Amino acid sequence: MGLNIVEKILQNHLATDAKTDAGEIALNIDYTLTQDSTGTLAYLQFESLNIPKVKTKLSVSFVDHNTLQAGFENADDHKYLQTVAEKYGINFSRPGNGICHQVFLERFAVPGMTLIGSDSHTPTAGGMGMIAIGAGGLNIAVAMAGKPYFLKQPKVCKVELVGELAPWATAKDIILELLKRLSVKGGVNTIFEYTGSGVKNLSVPERATITNMGAELGATTSIFPSDEVTKEFLKAQGREDVWTELIADSDAAYDEEVVIDLSALEPLVAKPHSPDNVVPVKELEGTVINQVFIGSCTNSSYMDLMKVAAILKGKNVHPNVSLAIAPGSKQVFTMLAENGALADIINSGARILESACGPCIGMGQAPQSAGISLRTNNRNFKGRSGTADAGIYLVSPEVAAVSAINGVVTDPRTFGEPIIVEMPEKFLTNDNMIIKPREDSKEVEVVRGPNIKALKKYEDMEEQISAKVVLKVEDNITTDDIMPSNASLLPFRSNIPHLANFCFAGVDPDFSERAKQAENGFIIAGDNYGQGSSREHAALVPRFLGIRAVIAKSFARIHYDNLINMGILPLNFANEADYDKLDLNAEVQIKDIKSNLEQAKDKWILTTNEGTEIELKSDFSARQRDVLLAGGLLNYTKKNQ
Ligand code: F3S
Repeated sequence: MGLNIVEKILQNHLATDAKTDAGEIALNIDYTLTQDSTGTLAYLQFESLNIPKVKTKLSVSFVDHNTLQAGFENADDHKYLQTVAEKYGINFSRPGNGICHQVFLERFAVPGMTLIGSDSHTPTAGGMGMIAIGAGGLNIAVAMAGKPYFLKQPKVCKVELVGELAPWATAKDIILELLKRLSVKGGVNTIFEYTGSGVKNLSVPERATITNMGAELGATTSIFPSDEVTKEFLKAQGREDVWTELIADSDAAYDEEVVIDLSALEPLVAKPHSPDNVVPVKELEGTVINQVFIGSCTNSSYMDLMKVAAILKGKNVHPNVSLAIAPGSKQVFTMLAENGALADIINSGARILESACGPCIGMGQAPQSAGISLRTNNRNFKGRSGTADAGIYLVSPEVAAVSAINGVVTDPRTFGEPIIVEMPEKFLTNDNMIIKPREDSKEVEVVRGPNIKALKKYEDMEEQISAKVVLKVEDNITTDDIMPSNASLLPFRSNIPHLANFCFAGVDPDFSERAKQAENGFIIAGDNYGQGSSREHAALVPRFLGIRAVIAKSFARIHYDNLINMGILPLNFANEADYDKLDLNAEVQIKDIKSNLEQAKDKWILTTNEGTEIELKSDFSARQRDVLLAGGLLNYTKKNQ
């Protein structure tokens, strides 16, 4: 039996000497990436491991989330990130150089390698034929220390793309179609491997749009083959030497299969407030819009923005629409400036933003109250834009640009001939905003401004925890809900005591105070708890507030790992109906915690003060049990050095 691409890469990277069970595999990690909002903690955690230099082939620290430097906090963080990178052998991509995934694709991604990144859209690099997985910052710290990354053995789903995209249908519509079919939970523990005759017609940035938004399926990651298209892209980036062919064997087997006929796709839109709430654009035609944002790690490539520039050329942005555009990288920005496309964009009345995440993470450009904003982003969760009652609609850059001109949602097929943009033979490759690691860094002093707060240390797990239910939440709670990330909070990512005041603020404003008073607390949750961004703070801040266990109907993958990494017990209801038996402020107990973990017992009993017993279950691997016993991954890694 032949191998699929995923099997080929995984086989090459299995850490065979690592202890695994319960369906876990251990992977050797070639590359890591961080972005500023998760990076400060990841590097604080790495520093606490006392290792002189990173042990990965290559690690990159990006600053793209909070580039504003509106107060000293961001500037402190950026200085810390720059000096810590210099000290420990990490590439540093300066603020303004671009969004981590776009820059990584252009300048660092290599087919056949493994990457973990402290950002949930790390799978973007799957467009280059990498196994690229989003993980918590602590996982990145541990990988930089040369330790393997553990994950559940994923299923591999073959996504066969047949035919060619119809005019005005785009890569964005391919992934929106998949979201429509499979939902935000459809990819759990799955790697999507793209194949079929339609693959060769998609450029690397188009493939990256698809793998980027695979994160919204809840997937482990997504991957495309490395073929002639990949080779041409790398050649145009001046990096042809790193290309290797990577294709599935003709008799490769897959666990699941999906077929998408590209010729049948039409322009699609994901309506508020979930990326799988997908309908054809034509259904919403004529809806008045207030704002359009074109950018983000999903759709801000050179090809995307050249199409946008061609649509906007000689036209005017509608007077009732604010159109903001953020080119994904300095490379994209400079090329648009050099070839005149930027002038076409500016001249239309668009507002040009820095090459950074910006509005995608709620940094500026919040829509008006109850506003309707069309965006090329990957997420449209309630409140993420900075305006609680705004509606965010996810679309392709083409739909966004055409609609910005008309002031209403517009099916681009009514606009005229589709725009064709050729891949350039040569991208502009000036890496002067990437500070390379230096050999001799002994003398480098890591600069820690007052916004860099030391990490709190936690004890080993206890045998018994008595606590209050300090919060009860419904299904699909996102990491944004748990730890909001708006413009006023983002500067405090390395200041956990400050963030703790705002934990769950949009869900239950009293939570923080209640948890502080209770000292020890449990959270009760519905399905898919912790979906969305990889934000480690969504586990770290609750731990700081005394949360010891989350009992849910089900968990999202990265968050589940993050809870374990922080020493919080993630347990499932054995009978989901028991969710209704636990109310806010109930006093409950979990006994035999250490013994259960030590004896690998997966059946747990939660007892209420009234004596009601509720059965809980777990399926921890041996390593996860050891991490929980140690009180978290940092303690565990230190003990096992
Ligand atoms: Fe940045 Fe938004 Fe992507 S925050 S990394 S552009 S999902």
